[in-house]
Amino acid sequence: MNVMTKGVIGGGIGNGMVAYHPLDPLSVDEISAAAAIVRRADEFNDATKFETIELRYPDRDAVRQWDGAGRLPRRAFVCIYDTHSGTVRECLVDLDAGILIDATIIPHARTAVVLDDIIGCVESVVQDQDFIAAMARRGFTDLSNVQVDPFSAGNFGLDGEDGHRIVHCFVYNRNGPFDNGYAHPVEGLNVIYDLNQGKVLEVLDRTMVEVPAEERNYAIRHDRIAAMTRDDLKAIAITQPDGPSFTVAGNKVHWLNWQFHVEFNAREGLVLNDLAFNDRGRVRPLLQRASVAEMVVPYGDPSFGHFRKNAFDVGEYGIGRLANSLTIGCDCRGHIHYFDGVVNNTAGAPVVIENAICMHEEDDGMLWKHTDLMTMAVETRRSRRLVISSVATVGNYEYGFFWNLYLDGTIELEVKLTGLMNTAGYNDVSKDNYGTHVAPGVVAQNHLHLFCARLDTAIDGVGNNLVEVNVIQDERGEGNPWGNAFHADQAVLRSEKAARRNRNAETERYWKITNPNRQNRMGGPTAYKLVAPSMVRPFHHGDTQLAKRAAFTKHQIWATPYTADERYPAGAYVNQSTGEDGVGAWTEADRNIENADLVLWHTFGIMHLPRLEDFPIQPVVKCGFALMADGFFDENPTLDMPPSTDGGSA
Ligand code: CO
Repeated sequence: MNVMTKGVIGGGIGNGMVAYHPLDPLSVDEISAAAAIVRRADEFNDATKFETIELRYPDRDAVRQWDGAGRLPRRAFVCIYDTHSGTVRECLVDLDAGILIDATIIPHARTAVVLDDIIGCVESVVQDQDFIAAMARRGFTDLSNVQVDPFSAGNFGLDGEDGHRIVHCFVYNRNGPFDNGYAHPVEGLNVIYDLNQGKVLEVLDRTMVEVPAEERNYAIRHDRIAAMTRDDLKAIAITQPDGPSFTVAGNKVHWLNWQFHVEFNAREGLVLNDLAFNDRGRVRPLLQRASVAEMVVPYGDPSFGHFRKNAFDVGEYGIGRLANSLTIGCDCRGHIHYFDGVVNNTAGAPVVIENAICMHEEDDGMLWKHTDLMTMAVETRRSRRLVISSVATVGNYEYGFFWNLYLDGTIELEVKLTGLMNTAGYNDVSKDNYGTHVAPGVVAQNHLHLFCARLDTAIDGVGNNLVEVNVIQDERGEGNPWGNAFHADQAVLRSEKAARRNRNAETERYWKITNPNRQNRMGGPTAYKLVAPSMVRPFHHGDTQLAKRAAFTKHQIWATPYTADERYPAGAYVNQSTGEDGVGAWTEADRNIENADLVLWHTFGIMHLPRLEDFPIQPVVKCGFALMADGFFDENPTLDMPPSTDGGSA
């Protein structure tokens, strides 16, 4: 039995929400109000569009000192761009006073590629005479089902980049509106389109390759799929007769020992704030804020236009803008609480993404168990977790972001990758050296998915250390006569440069965040360890423009002292960026991070060498990380769990 409750993200003006939190995203009314204020300003004209309208966070100290009763000032960050001049401005709006406080030009910035841009691009390309001619050369005269994929173009010093906000399009053909275009790549044909001018700059007809004709579909509407669909699945029903164990007030959630605030924004999508654990009556902070703040998908094929495929899906598009509206029974089962997301379109109007965030409890199998060998007495406890999730569709791919909270204090992020692989036509330059031939004439190229989590830590409060642990095999000798000794070497990483760290399987390396100002029962600093099973290195050369723009991929671990405007590890304006902003540049200052208001940046992901089984649609592949208590509690924090019984509540 699936049950649904509903909340609306946005705690500001006029949504009738009783609960308020200073980090509540802007409501529908607040977005409209902010847009109206900016529209009246001198900086605004008929050619101006809105990229982002979001909450400008109140001062961090004010949020910390907020007493839970009063309201902090509501301010909006509004990013606008002039499609004639290309000028990008950041506006600060005081929503309480109804005034524009500031409008600052951001030199060289280019705004993200948003839905309105993509629609405009696709409509224009198929009407372009050069494009029509290039398709005709390939035997296609009916372009009603041609699929144009606008890819962020990157920064390579190529013609058309300077002074333009562009996309580099790849082309696929569909045999009908619902046919899978990725089975029919139109290889060697690309289009450069200017998003600000709204026109095609160049059609690049690079090589002629026969377009593969075989249909490869996955949807039930296709006869082949309908015919093979099995009918031997028995129902699985999830029942929660007493309702869920969580309570929700506005965007604030309590679940057993956990409490946190749910945020949704256009760029990062799902964000958790003020994550804390109630340790037998004492609310102990863990994370100030947790989000996936950037990602990049570098492809490894050098041929024709494919070298340009390096989408930064957070910074260049915004995974919040692209979030799915989730459906009960399909995406989420059990007792579900949904939160809506509110973003804006380029006209400055609010856009509500209904059911953008799903929250529910799941049974999680064994928590702990022991059979006493002398008495044969058995003690078993079942685990459960709270899952807070959001799924974004970024062109061909789906990214599911699942934050899981566990009874033992573990915080886990599971990223689920599914959807359709971006494909290319088999060509004489690359052959199948740089990908996998998944169907005759269809190559799915080698690529990586690299994510960067921004973990604004507050383990037991502000003042955290980043500690590296390496396991050392002791030398044989007097102290180690049997050759079995090994020990853990622990070192505090004291500055930003020292904290640029990579994986090392030889020493079972891992990292901890400790609070040197708090002690556990045995006298050690209270701590959490980072469990990082998805560390992967990039394979582009270090002297490339991509290496600079995606500097966050160079190391799996970075740490910085909290700074309000250091939010995005590839910089604030990623589209066609030069790489001068971001975690690589900030950490050149080598600031102190000892006993600091610490932000940990963890880069993780997967190396994706495509499999035949990933085509035509990829079953979920997972990557992620966890933060696990390590000397944070004085003992197993789940001893209070009731014994598990058949059909019992635990
Ligand atoms: Co992939």
